Amino acid sequence: MSYLGVYQAAQDNPAEFWLDKTSLIEWDVLPSIAVAENAGGSERWFADGIMNTCFNAIDRHVRDGRAQQAAIYYDSPVTGARECITYGDLLERVERAAGGLQQLGAGKGDRVVIYMPMVPEAVIAMLACARIGAIHSVVFGGFAAPELAVRLTDAAPKLLITATCGVEVDRVVHYMPIVDAALELTEATINNIVVLDRPESPLVPKPERDVTWRDFMQSGEPLGCTPVAATDPLYILYTSGTTGKPKGVVRDNGGHAVALAWSMSAVYDVAPGDVFWAASDIGWVVGHSYIVYAPLLMGCTTVLYEGKPVKTPDASAFWRLVHDYRVRVLFAAPTAFRAIRKEDPKGNGLTGYNLDCLKALFLAGERLDPSTLNWLESLTDCPVIDHWWQTETGWAIAGNPLGIERLEPKPGSATKPLPGYQVAILDPQGVPLPPGEHGAVVIKRPLPPACLPTLWQDHKRFEEAYFATYPGYYLTGDGGYLDADGYLFIMGRTDDVINVAGHRLSTGEMEEVVAAHRAVAECAVVGVQDGLKGQVPVGLVVLKDGAEVAPKTLEHELVQRMREAIGPVASFRRVHVVNRLPKTRSGKILRSTLRSIADGRPFAPPSTIEDPAVLDEMIEVLMP
Ligand code: COA
Ligand code: AMP
Repeated sequence: MSYLGVYQAAQDNPAEFWLDKTSLIEWDVLPSIAVAENAGGSERWFADGIMNTCFNAIDRHVRDGRAQQAAIYYDSPVTGARECITYGDLLERVERAAGGLQQLGAGKGDRVVIYMPMVPEAVIAMLACARIGAIHSVVFGGFAAPELAVRLTDAAPKLLITATCGVEVDRVVHYMPIVDAALELTEATINNIVVLDRPESPLVPKPERDVTWRDFMQSGEPLGCTPVAATDPLYILYTSGTTGKPKGVVRDNGGHAVALAWSMSAVYDVAPGDVFWAASDIGWVVGHSYIVYAPLLMGCTTVLYEGKPVKTPDASAFWRLVHDYRVRVLFAAPTAFRAIRKEDPKGNGLTGYNLDCLKALFLAGERLDPSTLNWLESLTDCPVIDHWWQTETGWAIAGNPLGIERLEPKPGSATKPLPGYQVAILDPQGVPLPPGEHGAVVIKRPLPPACLPTLWQDHKRFEEAYFATYPGYYLTGDGGYLDADGYLFIMGRTDDVINVAGHRLSTGEMEEVVAAHRAVAECAVVGVQDGLKGQVPVGLVVLKDGAEVAPKTLEHELVQRMREAIGPVASFRRVHVVNRLPKTRSGKILRSTLRSIADGRPFAPPSTIEDPAVLDEMIEVLMP
């Protein structure tokens, strides 16, 4: 069937379309209901279905003869470790980890926070939670103690699972001081911590609290899968919103498994047994969906890479992995390839590697700039595909569905909305805009399976953040347009979220950190264009009257504070002391005007601006 045929089928009858896809996974009780509304008015897919995600990701493949097939290739240039974990091995280890969780009192519905680097134990911990119906919440290792603390407070977990360290190129990031500090800051009570003791940072255990991973794995009996309702939460993944408090995106079990399994064939065109590599981190949604769940649900082999695109040891690392593991599909962020290109513009790193296995390169996390697209196309023979999605959706909203029909790509576009997503472009009054006109990118309800049904214990915020602006439509927070051929162009966020090296961060949260400095009267943090990372945050600061601090000292102090409050991943390095910030006459900072200046987009200051002259200074400081 053509793209258009499949898209139309999903639009005309979403219930029939998605019920048909439920056969991609195994159920304890097959659902008869496709989509229902819950009490809060949001979509609940397959509400009467019962299943287990871990069973579908591991057990059934072992039962069906894949026990000897590699499930995970772990490759860690930063430690020198390499390991092939078969589906049979993975089952044994996940069964034991599930037993360990039970021994420590975690069961169905309990939360387990996982703060770990890219090691197999992190994936095992996630799957073990899924096995017993516990809800995992993975926190990215580049976040500092306060970020971990806020997630612990919100999720109130039974357990925290961590490691003694991560390794960043050649720098050991010791986790235990961060964990100790987070436990001081959080309101949650956590009695036990499971710690993977890594040789790069030996554990000095607190015996009353810490359980080593080794003891954890031996502590219980291997456990089978607990059947859960399709609508039970599989995980919470916190993501940046426009305020300081991150949003706890909830993912259900059944809809997630169905949509992800379908996406593997329809979008990525992979089959069981293929090798799929998402070069992301398990702390992000791409890691959840396409390092862990989707490849395993499909019976593929996934690659778990504890390294960087460059410097571990050089810019040929990605090509080596593709060659070594016979990767069929590589999924990465454009920034990773910009980093590779910067070090190796001629693509010398490909020399000696056979990349015939590579059938497609998928990019997401930020817009694929045409220059990086052209460079990649000149190096490889395979399609280079931009696709657009968000933590909230769990899988791509728009893309080029290779497994259905390869559409003619258009540079700068994420191609077309995928079946299941009805994308529209609205003006501020909610009126649909004609082709070519820029507006708010929204998705008409019902959202397809896997999309978030709520925010953890904050359904009100869910409704307000996503549905209050345009009733009946999900607000993506991105701006863009559809062209006359139905191709979608995503032009950037319209709110206080920025994408730094493919990492989603909140400028609102950063402003809170800057504003807390004793010398700062008021401030704004804006994402400015960056050749490598796409965007980087820049602080604009107005000093308090009489504040005596040299700009360089202030910058240094604020950079340090940001590293301690949010983490090094914020890449906050620049602060400008300015005379004034652009404001409305009622005193509101004109953030959208600042964003337009920083993006180099044409802008018309609103008529409510207090003093247009102030914009000259902003242009000088922010203009790309
Ligand atoms: N744990 C601890 N620290 C981390 C970390 C982690 N998991 N990830 C990043 N950091 C730190 C880095 O060490 C760096 O610290 P520094 O300021 O002391 O040098 C800082 O956070 C910024 O990191 P990063 O944004 O990764 O910048 P970089 O200059 O080290 O590397 C790239 C640049 C482009 C190579 C890198 O950003 C990259 O690989 N990006 C791809 C990201 C990606 O795959 N995103 C997936 C989303 S789909
Ligand atoms: P995250 O929730 O971390 O996946 O970040 C989601 C945001 O990243 C989106 O709202 C977009 O702003 C941006 N994004 C992701 N993929 C793309 C893409 N292909 N093109 C443009 N922006 C993207």
